[in-house]
Amino acid sequence: MTTTTITTTTRPARDSGTFHIGGDLPVVRLGYGAMRITGPGIWGEPLDRDEAIRVLRRAVELGVTLIDTADSYGPYVSEEFRTAQRSAPIATVQNRYNLGDRASEPVLEFCQAEGLGFIPWFPIATGELARPRGPLESMARQVRATPGQLALAWLLRRSRVILPIPGTSSVAHQEENVAAAGVHLTDAQFEALSALPSARG
Ligand SMILES: NC(=O)c1ccc[n+]([C@@H]2O[C@H](COP(=O)([O-])OP(=O)(O)OC[C@H]3O[C@@H](n4cnc5c(N)ncnc54)[C@H](OP(=O)(O)O)[C@@H]3O)[C@@H](O)[C@H]2O)c1
Repeated sequence: MTTTTITTTTRPARDSGTFHIGGDLPVVRLGYGAMRITGPGIWGEPLDRDEAIRVLRRAVELGVTLIDTADSYGPYVSEEFRTAQRSAPIATVQNRYNLGDRASEPVLEFCQAEGLGFIPWFPIATGELARPRGPLESMARQVRATPGQLALAWLLRRSRVILPIPGTSSVAHQEENVAAAGVHLTDAQFEALSALPSARG
């Protein structure tokens, strides 16, 4: 576990650095995905409305400036995010991507080459990469981080255009996730994580 003391004045999310969306809108790279503050099954009001509000407030206090939200999380849409560029300026692309699912690697490479923000949804594989006794536990112990922090630190290290938006309904997880901005991987640790099998991609 990292032992970083989290205060509202240190704003630890800022340790992840800044990305300029569209070239002129600066955001702190480690963001927050707000889908998890809805009700069960991502439907309706949250079970604990006060905690949901605290989660959002805490994100901002911790320095998060990129909060992802949408009025629906429907089925996949066409993400042929080069053709679209001909008809409208594209600032960011949002695709499913995490250590265990790298099927969108070519899209990420494209974003990196074009300087577009790449927002990976399911950044911790809906919690699978954060779970105890999961695939990241032993390396997390070496790095003195939690498995979820390791998954987020890998994303931040993978490309400077990646803007992770881990989702949570709990303040404790919000604090843990934001502290990932201060987890720095050595080259060897990054390579070892990159070599883990990816189910897709
Ligand atoms: N564009 C799209 O099509 C699309 C689709 C899906 C999602 N999204 C966006 O992407 C965001 C992220 O996706 P997501 O929230 O589905 O998946 P995620 O960030 O990969 O994982 C969230 C899940 O992991 C758990 N979790 C979070 N932090 C944890 C920690 N430190 N330790 C253990 N468990 C932890 C959460 O449970 P707790 O609540 O208990 O923390 C939640 O169940 C969404 O919130 C949404 O804004 C976009």
